[in-house]
Order: sequence, then C-alpha cells, then structure tokens
Amino acid sequence: MSKPYQHPVRIAPSILSADFARLGEEVRAIEKAGAALVHFDVMDNHYVPNLTIGPLVCEAIRPHVSIPIDVHLMVEPVDALIPLFARAGANIITFHPEATRHVDRTLQLIRDHGCLAGIALNPASPLDWMDHVMDRLDMVLLMSVNPGFGGQAFIPSTLPKLQAARARIAAHMAAGGQAISLEVDGGVKTDNIGQIIAAGADTCVAGSAVFGAPDTDGGYRTVMAALHRAALAA
Ligand code: DX5
Ligand code: ZN
Repeated sequence: MSKPYQHPVRIAPSILSADFARLGEEVRAIEKAGAALVHFDVMDNHYVPNLTIGPLVCEAIRPHVSIPIDVHLMVEPVDALIPLFARAGANIITFHPEATRHVDRTLQLIRDHGCLAGIALNPASPLDWMDHVMDRLDMVLLMSVNPGFGGQAFIPSTLPKLQAARARIAAHMAAGGQAISLEVDGGVKTDNIGQIIAAGADTCVAGSAVFGAPDTDGGYRTVMAALHRAALAA
C-alpha cells in the first residue's frame, strides 16, 4: 500500500455515502487519497430517523486502514455501545450529549476504553455543553446539518458558531488545557470548506462530496486534493 500523504487540514470522509457492498475497497481508496480519518456514522432509528452500521462493520473495516476510525454515535442511549466500538477498533468516539444521562461519565467511559472522546452538537445545541467538561474533551463536533442523512445543505449559522467554539478552545489551551480538535460535519464541499477552516475548524467530515466522485482514474484523490486546496486558500 502506498503511504498516505499528510496534510495540515484533516478531511474525514463519511462512509455513509460509500458503496456498502465494497466497503473495504472504499476505505482503502480514501486512505490512499489523503483521508486523515474514516468518519463512521452510527444511526439507530431512535435518536435519528435512520438506521446504519454498528460495531461489526467497524471491526470489518479496521484491518483495511491504518488511519483512525472516527465514530459518530447518533444513538440513544449511548453508554452500552462504547465498549463494543472500542473493541471493534474505534479510535475516536463522539456522541450527542442530550442522548446520554450523564455526559461527564460517558466522556470518561470513552477515555477509559482507550479512545479519544468528544461531544457532537446539533445546529440548535448551545456550545454551553462544553462548559464543565473541557478537561474531558478531545474533540468537539459541530453539526452543520441536522443529523440523520448525508447530502444535506450546510447551515450557514455554523460559521459564527465555529468561531465561538474555536475561541473557547483557544482560551482553554492558552490556560494550559489539553488540545481539543474542532470538527464540522454536514454539507462540506469545495466551495465552502475555505470559510469553514477560516472560521476555526481543523477537521472536516465530507460524505457526498468525496464518495459522490467516481473512484475511477483517481477520482477520490482528485476531490480530496481539491478539498485540501480550497481549505487552505481561505
Ligand atoms: C449526518 C452525518 C454526516 C453525513 C455527512 O447525520 O453525521 O456525517 O454523512 O454527509 P455529507 O458530507 O454528505 O453532508
Ligand atoms: Zn457524522
């Protein structure tokens, strides 16, 4: 396998838009094309009105890539799935705080299982969810669409929210706190990724933008390079 090239802006293709019949090949292709993470969307037909993939699929793709698997839990309740995903090879686990009863405990549970921990905030969820758990966070994921489906349009009010989240993280780190990654999820395309990075995101999920490209003649590599270029052009 050729070595994936490294890039300062992390792109995390969401396999929600991949060809599920060829998932192994699909994740190998995105790693080769420069993906920093595999974004793994878990939906339960309860917290969100859709049903996707679970720990067995995570375990199945794990041997196909060496980049981290970024598990985004859109499930309620949360805690029971954490050990299963950790055992299945997940590296980062984010969850929606309103879907668990004890946010602090859930964050600690994720770290206790050897994964990086994060909260995922819906477009209407306040950043105040970060208060009191800053020291427990490795990632904050801001949803720029309502969770449940790929291929939706980016919600513009995410941009000022990203700036505000970045300011909170910068203040925390300036005071000696640990690094917290800021991820944006939903509707990321080449024509808006520049503004998204300029607003403070360091990691961008991209589902339909990446997997919508044909993977013939290096299609994924072309779209990933275009996303990286546009991200830095801002
Ligand atoms: C939506 C998911 C996203 C989604 C992104 O609930 O969390 O990860 O797949 O897909 P695009 O990039 O197509 O908006
Ligand atoms: Zn997601």
